[in-house]
Amino acid sequence: MKLQSLSLVLLCCALAALPQARPANILAVYAFPGKSHFMMHTALIKELVESGHNVTMITAFSLSAQQLGGNYTELLIEPVYDFWHDVKLSFGVQHLFDLTQMKNYDFLKMLEIIGLKTTEHALRQPKVQALINARQTEGVFDLLLAEQFYQEAFLALAYKYNIPIVTTSTLGYENHMSQMMGLITPWSFVPHGFMPFTDRMSFMERVHNTYVSLYEDFDRLLSYFPKMDAITERYFGQVLAEVPKVRHMETQISVMLLNSHAPLTTARPTVDAMVPVGGMHIYPPKPLPADMQSFLDAATDGAIFFSLGSNVQSKEMPRDMLQLFLRVFGSMKQRILWKFEDESIDQLPPNVMIRKWLPQADILAHPNVKVFITHGGLFGTQEGVHYAVPMLGMPFYCDQHLNMNKAVLGGYGISLHFQSITEDLLRDSLLQLIHNASYAENVQRVSRIFRDRPMSPRRSAVYWIEYVIRHKGALHMRSAGLDLRWYQFYLLDVIAFLGVLALAALFLLLLAIRLLQGSGRKQRKAKTN
Ligand SMILES: *[C@@H]1O[C@H](CO)[C@@H](O)[C@H](O)[C@H]1NC(C)=O
Ligand SMILES: *[C@@H]1O[C@H](CO)[C@@H](O)[C@H](O)[C@H]1NC(C)=O
Ligand SMILES: *[C@@H]1O[C@H](CO)[C@@H](O)[C@H](O)[C@H]1NC(C)=O
Repeated sequence: MKLQSLSLVLLCCALAALPQARPANILAVYAFPGKSHFMMHTALIKELVESGHNVTMITAFSLSAQQLGGNYTELLIEPVYDFWHDVKLSFGVQHLFDLTQMKNYDFLKMLEIIGLKTTEHALRQPKVQALINARQTEGVFDLLLAEQFYQEAFLALAYKYNIPIVTTSTLGYENHMSQMMGLITPWSFVPHGFMPFTDRMSFMERVHNTYVSLYEDFDRLLSYFPKMDAITERYFGQVLAEVPKVRHMETQISVMLLNSHAPLTTARPTVDAMVPVGGMHIYPPKPLPADMQSFLDAATDGAIFFSLGSNVQSKEMPRDMLQLFLRVFGSMKQRILWKFEDESIDQLPPNVMIRKWLPQADILAHPNVKVFITHGGLFGTQEGVHYAVPMLGMPFYCDQHLNMNKAVLGGYGISLHFQSITEDLLRDSLLQLIHNASYAENVQRVSRIFRDRPMSPRRSAVYWIEYVIRHKGALHMRSAGLDLRWYQFYLLDVIAFLGVLALAALFLLLLAIRLLQGSGRKQRKAKTN
């Protein structure tokens, strides 16, 4: 009895001591116009405003459809920057189906180019200029929220307003993040995000993985950062006494929210400041439009959902491939719901329905959907796993190969190279995914693990943002490795020191042997004489 009341008192004290979240003024910068990236940004901003915070956002796309009310101020970047135009010009890419042919190095270069172009486009905007040049800075904002994606110049806003930084990575973990978090990522089992590897690599794959990871680290340091530094200097040179370098600003990030979560990510070394919040964009399913609902309800043999995401457009598919897909679909008993960006297709088989836009996650939640044909984007594969739908992947670029390899290794997906697809291969793969129970069983198991968390990803993201605001930064979680010189960090000075010691010991030993032998000879000589 006594013990019970004591624990009750303790519980009350513990509850009273729980920090109360006071409404904060948050400056968010989501200037990169990637449609899929906004699935994460929108979910996060909505959650923050609904939690009572006041958000001012520099944004590439308007969130007006979300009806966020008076505690959301939008600084919209106009017009939307068409970065694919730059990509097509710089790399001679005709359309995005050709990106399967692009080399990894070109791909890294491409990200840098679109990062630099979109950053400068946003910094030039009068509304953004007003924020940079504002007189009043103290107490205006409590936190800078920024995207961890080739937009580093915006981190200087945290210096202008003297506030801590939280960043969000829509791609999840990337190997180069070790440099900003002060940790070592073993390239022996952590695959580079754009390589088609898993955490079990052959010898040659490890060689390749090491080369690409090292190449990226040096390329950022020697080629990309100087260009981003120049942009930062150009736009903040007037207002900051000393314009910080990108390399330095990156090490001042308090918390990084990552769009990844076990088991969809490679187990790897990390620090507390890197918080996995993958699946933030997934909400409980909403009712489907009536026509789609009845189309799927009547799919007694199951349905296939087909979408290549927001960048790669099905309507741009080469004509012979389009015909191939239609022939295979037409020969199947299943119904197919296809995100296709044109009004109509000639000779559309009766079991295929096309729409320009489809509520992807709500469709995947329908129990009759048995296969998801996807480009392997991170957001889509998370939804497929969340709703336990086996996947047929056709990865094109970036992390899509990695995501699909994960699905293949996990036994819940089949990955095909788009240009090598044949009628038989496509039909057989779809039938395997539908009729071979192992795919459904595996995706259900992975789904249960993906959903099993102490806190929902949106709550978790808001918790860590409020944590950083409460403590005015979270640099106590920062790795001290960031303040070491590179040769200290990798222990090269210690190894050199120990090497010299070992050499000295060896030298002394040899010298001693020499002397002993010498004196032995002398003694023997003395005896024989
Ligand atoms: C804005 O936030 C404040 C503080 O959380 C709240 O009292 C107010 O109702 C909010 N205003 C709107 C329009 O939502
Ligand atoms: C919310 O932010 C806007 C834009 O910075 C600001 O004008 C407004 O005063 C803020 N509201 C509150 C309640 O702090
Ligand atoms: C089912 O799929 C698994 C994994 O790909 C495979 O090993 C097995 O042979 C398949 N079973 C049949 C009956 O095709």
